[in-house]
Amino acid sequence: MKNIKDQENLYQKRVLLRLDLNVPIKNGIISDQTRIDKILPIIKFLIKKDSKILVISHVGRPKGKVKKELSLKPICKYLEKKINQKIKLISNNILELKKEDLFKSSEDQIIFLENIRFYEEEEKNDLDFSKHLASFADLFVNDAFSCSHRAHASIDKITQFLPSYAGIQLNLEVNALNKITSKINRPITCIIGGSKISTKINIIKNLIPKFDNIIFVGGMANNILKYKGYNIGKSIREDNCDKIIEEIFYLSEKESCKIIYPEDVNVGKKLNGSGEIKDLKDILNDEMILDIGIKSIKNINKIIDKSSTILWNGPAGYFENQNFAKGSFEIYKKINEKNKANTIYSVVGGGDTVAFLNSINLNNNFDFVSTAGGAFLEYLEGKKLPGIRALN
Ligand code: 3PG
Repeated sequence: MKNIKDQENLYQKRVLLRLDLNVPIKNGIISDQTRIDKILPIIKFLIKKDSKILVISHVGRPKGKVKKELSLKPICKYLEKKINQKIKLISNNILELKKEDLFKSSEDQIIFLENIRFYEEEEKNDLDFSKHLASFADLFVNDAFSCSHRAHASIDKITQFLPSYAGIQLNLEVNALNKITSKINRPITCIIGGSKISTKINIIKNLIPKFDNIIFVGGMANNILKYKGYNIGKSIREDNCDKIIEEIFYLSEKESCKIIYPEDVNVGKKLNGSGEIKDLKDILNDEMILDIGIKSIKNINKIIDKSSTILWNGPAGYFENQNFAKGSFEIYKKINEKNKANTIYSVVGGGDTVAFLNSINLNNNFDFVSTAGGAFLEYLEGKKLPGIRALN
């Protein structure tokens, strides 16, 4: 991969910069800024080089429709304050935009295009759309490792039309993950949670031969519980997963990888309500599983204790509500304790997991914290990520 830091002549060059600013936003308020803070080095680097910076990012999954609540506006505001520099957000239809419409004033240095997923062409990896985006700039930089598992126009096809470079954060993440995969010690335990079930469930099969234990928590565990015949009430789930889960159990047996899922859960009727610890057989139709229970925590801690490497991707529950944050907190505590004693190698990944760590506001000693969730798992799987392949 060509590295943007090695590029000499960037003066007044228009750089199309793909970032992952997919941060949690509720009512215009960003609840975790980590992903924005992580891209400050590339922004500062390009400012220093006197480049013209055209930023592309997505937030959420608007599926080709304009959704006001998924605007990049709050992100621009936050970033403006951080770098103390004006940012222009262009909300006009990108399809009607021309190169001459951008950087008209000599004072314009940073321009944001609105959420790129407002355009269905983005997720279709549309060739004409990529070409159109490319026509705005002189070169392309991908500094969005956490999106590089997506074969989307602003990540993949765009590289066909512009000289393309790896950004600072992307390089950092790729180097760190390379190091991790080369020095990993057994027993290896992977804890997979979070709510993006569809993204992760298909990856598990390929991870089974590489790990000794896979622990399912959070939304990921719900489908397993349903498959095992438990009533999971109104809990989040993904449809049509039974065949994949059957294969997961079959393969895990064959490869001697233990599959662990919750034995008890903390359920609630409302996301912002209180919880009740229940055995799996007692979940009611109007309840949601929002965290793992005490017995499950104890069991998971025992497994962490016996592991030499831990990869943790996705929280154990709906940590945004304190009543359902205990599972994630206890997992954090156990790994951290082992980290301090230097008896484990630990890597944590994913936007929500990082947001959880920030929410508890405690120092951690993890060996590496990746902003990437799905991309992190696919990289571990040994897959060539489309965004990285395109840069190569
Ligand atoms: C992430 O949060 O993992 C990235 O921003 C990618 O988002 P996606 O899963 O919606 O493609």
